[in-house]
Amino acid sequence: MNLKDLLFTRYLTLRNLFIAGNFVLLFLLGAAIVKDQNREWKKYQRDFYRMEKARLQSEIDQATTEEDRQVHVKQLALVKSQSVKLRQLMAPALDRYDRCITCHLGYDPVLSPTTQTSYTNHPFSATPHSVHKAHPVERFACTVCHEGQGLATTVADGHGRVKHWDKPLRTGAYIQSSCAKCHSNLYDEKSMPQTAAWRRGEAIFVEKGCIGCHQIRGQGGRSPLI
Ligand code: HEC
Ligand code: HEC
Ligand code: HEC
Ligand code: HEC
Repeated sequence: MNLKDLLFTRYLTLRNLFIAGNFVLLFLLGAAIVKDQNREWKKYQRDFYRMEKARLQSEIDQATTEEDRQVHVKQLALVKSQSVKLRQLMAPALDRYDRCITCHLGYDPVLSPTTQTSYTNHPFSATPHSVHKAHPVERFACTVCHEGQGLATTVADGHGRVKHWDKPLRTGAYIQSSCAKCHSNLYDEKSMPQTAAWRRGEAIFVEKGCIGCHQIRGQGGRSPLI
């Protein structure tokens, strides 16, 4: 028997290939499970639940009145009943479906009814900002103001800081550029004190004659910004 025949009759038989195939499949299945467990957002949710449980447990231990204790016992039960899952805000009137709260759990209206957590580290901080209070997240979701990519579930994609996504996350004063979508009184300092940076930008745009080359609402020169 020559080497070639030996290879095909003894080793590379259908039966052996089938057995080897099964091992490959088992390995891929294991790899898929490990990959799924290690998704970026799952880490943030697990961290948040851990922090919340520890915080509420210490509140319970330190409670001075029975009423106070009961409130925290209830909250702890709510946090314990949560599973690690994708979370989404739906604002169909604005056509927004945002999963930002999958990581930013501080803004979850169920877990954090007052949109307030004592955590300062991102993505859990939810400093009660007056603008957030005026726009309940259940109705407005996030991307109407912050842009980014609502449906995405990784930090880079969610914040829209990836190729071919032309609406990167707006932070700090840049968020003010979104307010004009709905509010027409941005020029009015008294009724809209939150848009000072927008007014300053607008004034510079007019003063420096940017409109000579850049268009706004069809007015002005032609430039690649159109
Ligand atoms: C996969 C988790 C994840 C998702 C999804 C996500 N974020 Fe974040 N976000 C983070 C983390 C982590 C930070 C902390 C800063 C960093 O690492 O970029 C952060 C920071 C921020 C900040 C503060 C940034 C700054 O520079 O001050 C804002 C605002 C923000 N996210 C808004 C959003 C919005 C709006 C969405 C949805 C469109 C979103 N995020 C989706 C994890 C996430
Ligand atoms: C109506 C507009 C609006 C909506 C809707 C909105 N935000 Fe904001 N957000 C703001 C403004 C304005 C600020 C303050 C920016 C500044 O002045 O630094 C801010 C600040 C933040 C910050 C940084 C402040 C902090 O707490 O550390 C985060 C994170 C954030 N928003 C996340 C979200 C998420 C998540 C959602 C959706 C659940 C959301 N926002 C919805 C307008 C909005
Ligand atoms: C998607 C549309 C939309 C966007 C974008 C938006 N707003 Fe509003 N805003 C509203 C609506 C609608 C209300 C009234 C809320 C209600 O019905 O309770 C409101 C209410 C407010 C109020 C409270 C007014 C009052 O008389 O109580 C302030 C202040 C405000 N918005 C500021 C801002 C700022 C600053 C931004 C930009 C960061 C912004 N808004 C972005 C729609 C929007
Ligand atoms: C003489 C014409 C002209 C004037 C005046 C002008 N720009 Fe531009 N601007 C351009 C051109 C052309 C480009 C594109 C440059 C390029 O793509 O390399 C540009 C690019 C930009 C960009 C970058 C856009 C991007 O997508 O990266 C910004 C922001 C901008 N201009 C803002 C301004 C502001 C603010 C003013 C007023 C202070 C101003 N421009 C005045 C011609 C002008």
